[in-house]
Amino acid sequence: MRVRTRTLTEMKRAGRRIACVTAYDYPTARLADAAGFPLVLVGDSLGNVVLGHDSTIAVTLDAMLHHTQAVVRGAKQALVVADMPFMTYQVSAEEALRNAGRLMQEGGAHAVKVEGGASVAETVERLTSAGAPVMGHLGLTPQSVHQLGGFRVQGRSLADARRLIEDALLLQEGGAFAIVLETVPAELSRIVTERLAIPTIGIGAGPHCDGEIQVFHEILGLIDGRPRKHAKTYADLNAIIADALTRYADEVGEGRFPTEANSFDLDEGVLEALRRDGDAAGSGER
Ligand code: KIV
Repeated sequence: MRVRTRTLTEMKRAGRRIACVTAYDYPTARLADAAGFPLVLVGDSLGNVVLGHDSTIAVTLDAMLHHTQAVVRGAKQALVVADMPFMTYQVSAEEALRNAGRLMQEGGAHAVKVEGGASVAETVERLTSAGAPVMGHLGLTPQSVHQLGGFRVQGRSLADARRLIEDALLLQEGGAFAIVLETVPAELSRIVTERLAIPTIGIGAGPHCDGEIQVFHEILGLIDGRPRKHAKTYADLNAIIADALTRYADEVGEGRFPTEANSFDLDEGVLEALRRDGDAAGSGER
């Protein structure tokens, strides 16, 4: 049975931690779903880990639609949340409604995620009133990386910490069903988590959130370079895939693959007729 947004609130109430992961296509969604994640995020981090950009800013609504459709085909149980890309919800609530509508109608997402606090609270309210479930995202909001001055810890000063708590409450009032807290001090996450009825989902936010989300490629060793401090490598797929591809290329180069076992038979009669054709053509008779 499909996970619903209220399942996540119930998990928080029951003290059950919520493990989430990103997915960007059919195979990653199928794997995440089979592992039992209740929530799969089609993150605009696909700009970094799938498309090779250095930020999420270049990700378009069309790209999100394309990837969300594939994830929805692979995720049979998980709640699929699609990120609203940069400038698809900031210009006006009307545009946000139209674009969230596309992600849900054309993309098949069950919910959308937006970055920001007070500046998007009214839009969150409009979206949720219209029936589009919204996940918030506070702290290090990657779409604002240039404004934040880089990928750095957020909410460290008293004023910033108070603003973050206020933003979280505003998003909850606007009807958000959960909030991602990214790269904020662990004790601040604890306070936010205790103040909210809706779940907090951390990434680089310490152990006190109601759940955790990680980027698929980062925890499975599929990125260029080292994972960030908040990530953990559960498998080194880069090394496994590199080794497999090298062995494949070597076997083809050395004539060890494909073999008879990978080949298809031709009916003996057809083969003989083809040979006779070849002989006749060679002698110029045909
Ligand atoms: O785009 C993304 O992957 C995200 C997660 C880091 C929460 O927003």
